[in-house]
Amino acid sequence: MSISTSTDAPARPQTRPDETETPERTNEARAGREKSVGTPVRRVDGPLKVTGTAPYAYEHGVENPCYLWPVPAPITKGRIVRIDTDAARAVPGVLHILTHEDSPRLAVKSDPALWILQGPQIAHRGQIVGGVIAETPEAAREAAELVEVICEEERAKVEFDPHDPEAESPRIVLMKRGTESKGDLDEGWREAVHRIDQEYANPTHFHAQMEPHAVIAVWHDVDGFDPRATRLTLFDTNQGPIIHRALLPPLLGLLPNQLEVISPYVGGGFGGKAFPHPHIALAAMAAKVISPRPVKLALTRQQMFQSVGHRPEASQRIRLGADRNGRLTAIEHISTQAASRLKRNVDQSCFATRMMYATPNRRTEHRAVMLDLPPETWMRAPGDFNGMFALETAMDELAHQLGVDPIELRLRNEPDVDPETEKPWSTRALVPALKRGSELFDWGRRQDPGTLREGEWLIGIGVASTCFPNQHVASLFARITHTGGKYVVQMQASDIGTGAHTVLRQIAADALDVPVEQVETDIGRTGTPMAIMAGGSQGTYEWGNAIVAACEKLRRKHGDNPPDGASARAQGRPPRGASKYSRHAFGAQFAEVAVSSVTSEVRVRRLLGVYGAGTIINPLTARSQMVGGMTMALSAALFEESYHDPRFGKVMNHDLASYHIAAHADIGELEVEFLPEYDKWFGAKGSKGIGEMAMVGTPAAIGNAIFNATGIRLRDTPFTPASLIEATS
Ligand code: MOS
Repeated sequence: MSISTSTDAPARPQTRPDETETPERTNEARAGREKSVGTPVRRVDGPLKVTGTAPYAYEHGVENPCYLWPVPAPITKGRIVRIDTDAARAVPGVLHILTHEDSPRLAVKSDPALWILQGPQIAHRGQIVGGVIAETPEAAREAAELVEVICEEERAKVEFDPHDPEAESPRIVLMKRGTESKGDLDEGWREAVHRIDQEYANPTHFHAQMEPHAVIAVWHDVDGFDPRATRLTLFDTNQGPIIHRALLPPLLGLLPNQLEVISPYVGGGFGGKAFPHPHIALAAMAAKVISPRPVKLALTRQQMFQSVGHRPEASQRIRLGADRNGRLTAIEHISTQAASRLKRNVDQSCFATRMMYATPNRRTEHRAVMLDLPPETWMRAPGDFNGMFALETAMDELAHQLGVDPIELRLRNEPDVDPETEKPWSTRALVPALKRGSELFDWGRRQDPGTLREGEWLIGIGVASTCFPNQHVASLFARITHTGGKYVVQMQASDIGTGAHTVLRQIAADALDVPVEQVETDIGRTGTPMAIMAGGSQGTYEWGNAIVAACEKLRRKHGDNPPDGASARAQGRPPRGASKYSRHAFGAQFAEVAVSSVTSEVRVRRLLGVYGAGTIINPLTARSQMVGGMTMALSAALFEESYHDPRFGKVMNHDLASYHIAAHADIGELEVEFLPEYDKWFGAKGSKGIGEMAMVGTPAAIGNAIFNATGIRLRDTPFTPASLIEATS
């Protein structure tokens, strides 16, 4: 069965996922064994991580390594006239210096950002224009600083203006139409009794993963004429080898199988480790030059602020029209973001707006202002994060204008089917989440803006909807092998800190009907069956499909006691008929804030997220994902801000001393509740994606709570004391 898609379904008591009747279950229910899915299995790699013995990219033992340091472009745009390496070469320990004049030639421009050292052109400040290989990292660094890059500068455009007349409207954004509409927006706007027309902005955000980008590259060249003997090994920190395999071999003139990628443990990705970034191309070239010696490269925090991607600065214009009852007559969302001329990635900022609320008239458009900046990339809940901040703040503004409770306004605009595709929802728990959250958060205590006070502190509570889509489904595979009394799951999945090593074992254990201790994972490397990366909050349900299929195949072929060495490989597919449904995860987020009437400091006392995320595979790691997402969003809502120097096209606060992220003391009470839900249209286990949904509604919930506390509406993040003071003066 599935949870009712009726929008008014009350929250039911949590049933254990294994009690849910599903066709899939018949294959698992044997001998009355306790199921692992749904139980709080502790992270299997926890002891390795806390004892410092889980090898991260830079820590793999290699023989006789040398060290690489990149040379950054010293200008914003232009061309190199000359590179003087004399002083650098004189540094003791320097082995080789790479520049565009003598570096290995790359083969196919599979990614423009990876096309480095191939000519004198400079596309952005900090672009890699050289590299020093030395016996020690210190020597490489010192020498890199002595490389003199003499340039001819061209006029560069680095300042983002959301109203830039040169903004482009891409036809396609992440495989969907960039601009779309329904009904007659102008008519809907005209007939509206209540109207909101506002802009909401976010600055450039940086992922700031705990583990910096790092790589060890080893180029194995074998004497003789067989070019296939060449092999490149990368010990890298990434979200899975699939995109590396797609982009790097053509770039380097290798066949896909000639690239080996190894990343068993990853200290945070957040989208910033989905794609290989230019330092990897540099490391590969250096390894080729210095082969067979391994080359090690770890980026500094400062380097990470200019060469491995960011969430682009953006502005969302939202227009909401509503009749006197608060029913939406028009929704318009125009998202405008900064984008790199070198390599553009337009976020899906309007996608959620297309399906959140019912309206006869809608128009959404994505725009990009092309700038001479380093390439932006995916960053946690790309697009949905800032798009939903805008929409959910606008909904709060509309509720205030109407004099209607913000929860009630959302209930009145709940759509029966997906407004964009007109497909039925697979499951949609927005209304139950809003209702359950309002109980848990004691929503009834909410007062008019600016009325609740505790001494100097103004108190407010706010709410916002949250959601995250089912992503595009690529083909993927898993292999299960019975060996030495254990079952080993192999696939190109990745554990970026989420708990994948643990939950994939749980899924396999139930499909095999064995204890979870009997299952091991061999993921995070090539040489295993191809699978999607850890991204788009899709890993667990997609990988799970492949694992269940492989386990079932093994049991079909070999029975319940397979011989040693028995193995089965299978493809993971979405459930048959899934494309007939609109598939998203939904939830509601609540915030309580205290705003100092003296300093305008905002303290988030309490955050609550209520989520319908299907079957929860592991309540411990799932909760940890949501708490992490809410923390990251709180950090962006209150603190994270980038200062661009328009003269240099550079983020000036390029380290964690000046790019302020939330610390423990900034985090109040965090609560997470998962609603009972089983969604058979996502995958074999009935589970949906979780991590990113926790980030999507949080900033609007906090901003709406600030409005409730103070009567001040903030539309730009972060919500700093300065912005509150400015709003009142
Ligand atoms: Mo994440 S931005 O889905 O890699």
